[in-house]
Amino acid sequence: MIPPEAAKASDQVRADLDRLLPVLEPRLLTPFRLGEAMRLAEGMRYSLEAGGKRVRPVLCLLAAESVGGGLESALPGAIALEYVHTYSLIHDDLPAMDDDDLRRGRPTNHKVYGEGHAILAGDGLLTEAFAVLAASGRADAVALLAEAAGWRGMVGGQALDLEGEALTASGTDFGWEHLQTIHRLKTGALLRASVELGGLLGGADSIQQASLRAYGEAIGLAFQIQDDILDATSDAATLGKRAGKDQGRGKITYPSLLGLDGARRALQEATERALCHLPSLPNPSSLQAWARYLAERIA
Ligand code: IPE
Ligand code: IPE
Ligand code: MG
Ligand code: MG
Ligand code: MG
Repeated sequence: MIPPEAAKASDQVRADLDRLLPVLEPRLLTPFRLGEAMRLAEGMRYSLEAGGKRVRPVLCLLAAESVGGGLESALPGAIALEYVHTYSLIHDDLPAMDDDDLRRGRPTNHKVYGEGHAILAGDGLLTEAFAVLAASGRADAVALLAEAAGWRGMVGGQALDLEGEALTASGTDFGWEHLQTIHRLKTGALLRASVELGGLLGGADSIQQASLRAYGEAIGLAFQIQDDILDATSDAATLGKRAGKDQGRGKITYPSLLGLDGARRALQEATERALCHLPSLPNPSSLQAWARYLAERIA
């Protein structure tokens, strides 16, 4: 059961954020301060500085620690993940995709800088992610992130998500398994890669890495189920992005397919599945707390 440990989980999550964000935040903006295309750099900083929960970089750092690795070794992975994620949000909000005007409590990137610059800010963040990771000299980490972020992962999921809208508009039903595939790819792939990158850079052995992968797979699905639930039940002031937009665009989501209670059951099942994989790790407690927090988060 998730609820009884909730209070403990949030203390742990707060302590992790207090410790890790001061290490992460100053490093995130560094590459975008000097250069020739300064309006583009400003656009990239605009979306990065707006905050966000930093779930992916923090999970990467915690996964490294869960197998006894140090923070510094995992930091390039953490930074690269937040760049890829922020690029994906800028592009997700474009008129050609979800057409949103509010993100991280601010007007979306294209509303401020125009569509052309928003596309380029996304491109710039994506390529910078690979520059940061390549500088660590870890080709295995570069390959892992490329697989998760690219057309076999997040980008592929975004394509299926768009195609799903068109299918719904034409009255075609698609089932829960297809929806799970969309969620596993568009959101799950990068969350799974977050813990896998942490494990890889933190020195996990192959058994530990398999546990982290299975944990990451389950929290990745849980994360998007909760995103769907919050879209259906929360408001823009709490989320920092518009609510109710999935129904407006005819997206198939967990609540639209299974109802809110069914979606909450699926969320709980995925969270419990994630927790199963942790006990064999040397330091599992933060990852346990984060799985619970991600299922209970309100934003
Ligand atoms: C939102 O991700 C997009 C999804 C993949 C569901 P987050 O909820 O992690 O967004 P930020 O980083 O906190 O803004
Ligand atoms: C976004 O899913 C997934 C990616 C950005 C890859 P959503 O479209 O549901 O995310 P929000 O609700 O706009 O943050
Ligand atoms: Mg979307
Ligand atoms: Mg969206
Ligand atoms: Mg959403």
